[in-house]
Amino acid sequence: MPVKGILSFPGDKSISHRALMLASLSNGVCTVRNLSTGADVESTRQCLLRCGVNSERKDGKVVIKGGALGTPESPLQCGNSGTTARLLTGLLAGKGICSTLTGDSSLSKRPMRRIIDPLSTMGALINSEDGHLPINLKSNSLTGIDYTLPVASAQVKSAVLLAGLSAEGKTTVREQTKSRDHTEIMLGHLGADISVSGSRIDLSPLTSPLRSFDLTVPADPSTAAFFAAGAALVPGSEILLKRILRNSTRSGFFDALEKMGAGMEWLEESDEGGETTADLRVWSAPLRSVSLSQPEIPGIIDELPVLAVLATQAEGITEVRDADELRLKESDRIAAICSNLLRMGADVTELDDGFVIEGPTTLKGTRIDTYGDHRIAMAFTIAGLLADGQTKLDDDLCVEVSCPEFNDLLGKVIK
Ligand code: S3P
Repeated sequence: MPVKGILSFPGDKSISHRALMLASLSNGVCTVRNLSTGADVESTRQCLLRCGVNSERKDGKVVIKGGALGTPESPLQCGNSGTTARLLTGLLAGKGICSTLTGDSSLSKRPMRRIIDPLSTMGALINSEDGHLPINLKSNSLTGIDYTLPVASAQVKSAVLLAGLSAEGKTTVREQTKSRDHTEIMLGHLGADISVSGSRIDLSPLTSPLRSFDLTVPADPSTAAFFAAGAALVPGSEILLKRILRNSTRSGFFDALEKMGAGMEWLEESDEGGETTADLRVWSAPLRSVSLSQPEIPGIIDELPVLAVLATQAEGITEVRDADELRLKESDRIAAICSNLLRMGADVTELDDGFVIEGPTTLKGTRIDTYGDHRIAMAFTIAGLLADGQTKLDDDLCVEVSCPEFNDLLGKVIK
């Protein structure tokens, strides 16, 4: 059945986390509209509430009272959210706030050494379970650092920058491959002394609170990607996705979709809090394969599961390399993509750092193991639109991590 219609989405997950955290450093009342409705962002809001940052969700907006970040009385539950755990550790370490951060079983397996190392060099006193959650933070004052990121990670970069806001002296972060830059954009927009020059970011500590703000979060391009993929894949489809975040550090999926031959156009660009938004029209067309490696990977990292689904329908060999970070996400996404696609009958080879897929192949419906991973669930729901026979996910609910309304939205556009 074709995918047709006009869709609006809740706000981008990455920007939503940052908006809540930076509101806590502001001098007044902040309003965030179109905040992500996912459980991950709610984890951030709940953690901040425990730290004394009051907020209220009402009529599609969240109002946050800045200036009250303090010591929580109980552990901070980060749920499934790596962004909550890593960014909050940086923010709290900078402020010298004693706290314990915990996560669910997936998050507790994910590497935290990548933030513990630079934050400890800055002076943070951090105990962890061998580089994993739970993390225990003790109070200490921090000093700015000149840090070259060993992995392309916006979470690590942001943890260091958030700590640097409250450190003594300047902080410099150098990236070997550019990762999403929402922290830099938002900090600049709210009056912090931050400058970006090529791959180098320089930040001075805050001398006064950030200014309070009223922000409408642009729609999440990582959620929009699933609908764009559905429209590109199913013959006779055409969809209009409204007010999508258009940021070059996040556009890898849409760039790849265009290279693969999908019908695509961006319309009605505008500015929102220093970020660009635009409407995106996507329509079906015959697809060809694409190859991706560094430095393209960080800009498409969260969309690689759905890119793999596209690749099964594209003429030729799609190769994704240098994506070893995918093994460290909410699940081992390389293994999850390859095992599920193989079971659907795709021609797929698993690599240590990616995968090779030869298309086109007819997919057959089967049972999908989501590993509780929202992006695997959504990618294979899209694969199910093309499959012969029924596709059944072992866990429908995990989509709530980033987009609880995913299945309702899909129901609206399948005609
Ligand atoms: C995010 C950064 C990325 C991404 C994650 C959100 C962020 O993770 O995969 O979904 O908001 O900074 P890494 O920084 O680990 O690459």
